[in-house]
Formats: sequence, structure tokens, C-alpha cells
Amino acid sequence: MRLNSAQELRKKIDPMKLPKHVAIIMDGNGRWAKKRHLPRTAGHQEGMKRVVEIVEVANKLNIEYLSLYAFSTENWKRPKEEIQGIMKILVQYIRMELERIHKNNIKIQVMGDLKRLPDAPRKEVERAIEKTKNNSKMILNIGLNYGGRDEIVRAVKNILEDIEMGKLKKEDIDKELFSQYLYTHNLPDPDLLIRPSGEIRLSNFMLYQVAYTEFYFCDTYWPDFKEEDFYKAILEYQSRNRRFGGV
Ligand code: FPP
Repeated sequence: MRLNSAQELRKKIDPMKLPKHVAIIMDGNGRWAKKRHLPRTAGHQEGMKRVVEIVEVANKLNIEYLSLYAFSTENWKRPKEEIQGIMKILVQYIRMELERIHKNNIKIQVMGDLKRLPDAPRKEVERAIEKTKNNSKMILNIGLNYGGRDEIVRAVKNILEDIEMGKLKKEDIDKELFSQYLYTHNLPDPDLLIRPSGEIRLSNFMLYQVAYTEFYFCDTYWPDFKEEDFYKAILEYQSRNRRFGGV
């Protein structure tokens, strides 16, 4: 039987050396649309289809944690129509996929302040979190109204509040305790961060958590990012020698 290129790549992946946590900055939706003379929202719509596929691929590969950057604290600066478009697509995604996500034993979790989201997407997201809260095969961690600096400032404030309330002492604060005050308190740090679309920057994503993460950049726009591209990133990760500051 002849295998297609995705299957060929999949076969090369060492199941013993999988990244536990993969994080993705889904970028290039706007440029993908522009190249086709389509509205930017069309790029986000196509990007949502890739979310469906990559969640499935990651789950089948037994990736335990998948973090996706869907909407940043800075994205509120975009035109109203585009923001509304992204929110609509998010609602559509949950309505379309929640049953399957639940059946696949995936737990949905959010990093970011949900309170600022409009009612409809906020309620859908809360429904998804509630429905999947006891699932255990994979955590799908979605960044919504998320910013790494905001997350750190929020952690500092919460730590101070706990000190004021006598729940914590200054001496208790160390790296591990600090991590417990981040949105990702129940997740290990990402092993691999993927950013498609040719941009080589972090854009305020998981600033505290990526201290020792392996970065993978590629030129493909997110709406073109297929199963093969995900496998290529994993294979590149497996070829790296992680030293965590040691030798
Ligand atoms: C970045 O591309 C992408 C976004 C800001 C939105 C991402 C949203 C989705 C993929 C859809 C919904 C998400 C989920 C989880 C269902 P860009 O617009 O910055 O692209 P550009 O840099 O080419 O302009």
C-alpha cells in the first residue's frame, strides 16, 4: 500500500519522544485572505477548519496538551467587523465541534479574561468548559483575550491579595508557586511552540511558560497549515537536543 506524504511523515515520529505540550500561534489568516482578494474574516473561517483538523491530529498522536492563541488582548484594536467575525467563528466552532471534542475525551480550558468577551461567545465557551471539565485524554487550552504580560500582572496581584489575606508568606514565593498563579497552573510548560506565517516573534504569548520551549517557525499561513506541517514541526522538535541550561 502506498502511503501519502502525511502518513509517511507520521511514521517517522518517535512515539516515545513526543512533546507533551504543543502551543501554536495561529497566524497569517489575514494575509491568506488578502492573497485571494477575500475579506479577512474568510481567512479566520478557513483558519477555524485547520483548528478542527489539528485538534484531531494532535489528539490521535496522543499529544496531552494543545494551546492555541485565538484572540489576544491586543486584537481588540482590530476593526469591529473583524472582531465580530472572529467571535462568530468561535461560536460556530463550539456548536459544530463540542460533541466530537467531548466524545474524544478532550477537556476545553481557556487562558485569558473571558469577562470582556461579548455574551454569546462567552456563554458558548463557558458551556464548553463545563461540559468537558471531567475529560482527561487531552487539554485543549484556548487563548482568548489573552496576553502574556496581563497574565503575569494578574498573577502578581493575586499573590499580593493572598499575602494580605494571610494565605501566603513572601518567603513562599518561588518559580513553582508563581506558575500556580498563571492560567496554565494545571499544564506543564510548552515543549514546542509553532508559529506559522513567517513572523518570528512571540507577540505576548505565554511569556513565562516558554523559558525552555523549542520554537518552530514556518512560512505557511495558518489556513494552509495541514497535518503534514504539524508532523514536520514534531519531527524537527524530535531532532533537537534539549539541555534546559545544562550540558
Ligand atoms: C491571526 O492571523 C489570527 C487571529 C487573530 C485569529 C485566529 C482565529 C481563528 C483561527 C478562528 C477561531 C479560533 C478557534 C479556536 C476556533 P492574522 O489575522 O493576524 O493574520 P495576518 O497576520 O496575516 O493579518
